[in-house]
Amino acid sequence: MRAGILAASAVATGVAYRKLNHVSTTTVKTAAIQGLTQATNAPADSGFTVNEPETSFQDITHYNNFYEFSTDKQAVADASANFQTKGWQLTVGGLVNKPRVFDLDEILKIAPPEERIYRMRCVEAWSMVVPWAGYPLSKLLEVVEPMSNAKYVAFETLLDPTRMPGQRSDVLKWPYVEGLRLDEAMHPLAILASGLYGRALPPQDGAPIRMVIPWKYGFKGIKSIVKIKFLTEQPPTTWSEATRKEYGFYANVNPHVDHPRWSQATEQRIGESGRRPTLMFNGYEEQVGHLYAGMDLRANF
Ligand code: MTE
Repeated sequence: MRAGILAASAVATGVAYRKLNHVSTTTVKTAAIQGLTQATNAPADSGFTVNEPETSFQDITHYNNFYEFSTDKQAVADASANFQTKGWQLTVGGLVNKPRVFDLDEILKIAPPEERIYRMRCVEAWSMVVPWAGYPLSKLLEVVEPMSNAKYVAFETLLDPTRMPGQRSDVLKWPYVEGLRLDEAMHPLAILASGLYGRALPPQDGAPIRMVIPWKYGFKGIKSIVKIKFLTEQPPTTWSEATRKEYGFYANVNPHVDHPRWSQATEQRIGESGRRPTLMFNGYEEQVGHLYAGMDLRANF
């Protein structure tokens, strides 16, 4: 493919990843999140926390995939530093009884923020552990009352090339779109995140709201969402549309199904030396395996 999720070359080296802790030119200033409950209080089998070191704030905020700003991971922080989210709205509609346009404040008040410490596995074979703040997407979906014929949920990122200069290039088709099956979207591990490390999301990580679906490759975690729509049919998704053979709709982390251009059996944890084995469903098989019972995961990659 063209630019694509490009870092396959870096996958082989691992070296670049250990050099991330350079002093950045951008200081990340975001507000503390009030009333955050700690994931450590969650039952051990919830998957809400992991017993692995958290990736540093510096690395999480300076090694980003956000093509609306830059295709250079280490340039996204600077390129997005002045991104304005004032007046942000989220439109939720399609097959729902109560379609609605929410202001950001209304979205954040739907449920209390919870800290969720999740593994994040990028399809490029690097990974992090991120302490997100957010609440289950199901809480928002319940507010709008999905109709019984709704089977899929589609998401859309802001389209505004004046605020997202990367959208002036045709590296991807804009706006960035993603989707989930409704049962995936309703799973308690799927969160609408509004923060990390106890603070509001920095622009480079998807301010003001993004999806985090920890058992799927990172590209399913759509950033800076302005629209959610309920549908009967599977919606198009950005990476799958760009390169259908390489990126599927499901994108469940699976060490047994390689990317056509590289192995998915192992990964480079940012900040670590050496590679780790990649876990089935990114280590969340106990929680989500039942969603895919009887499905051919090689065909539905
Ligand atoms: N969302 C939008 N709108 N645009 C993007 O380019 N990149 C995806 C995903 N969400 C992307 C996006 C990819 S490929 C990954 S791996 C994650 O965001 C990276 O999230 P992070 O930068 O917070 O680690």
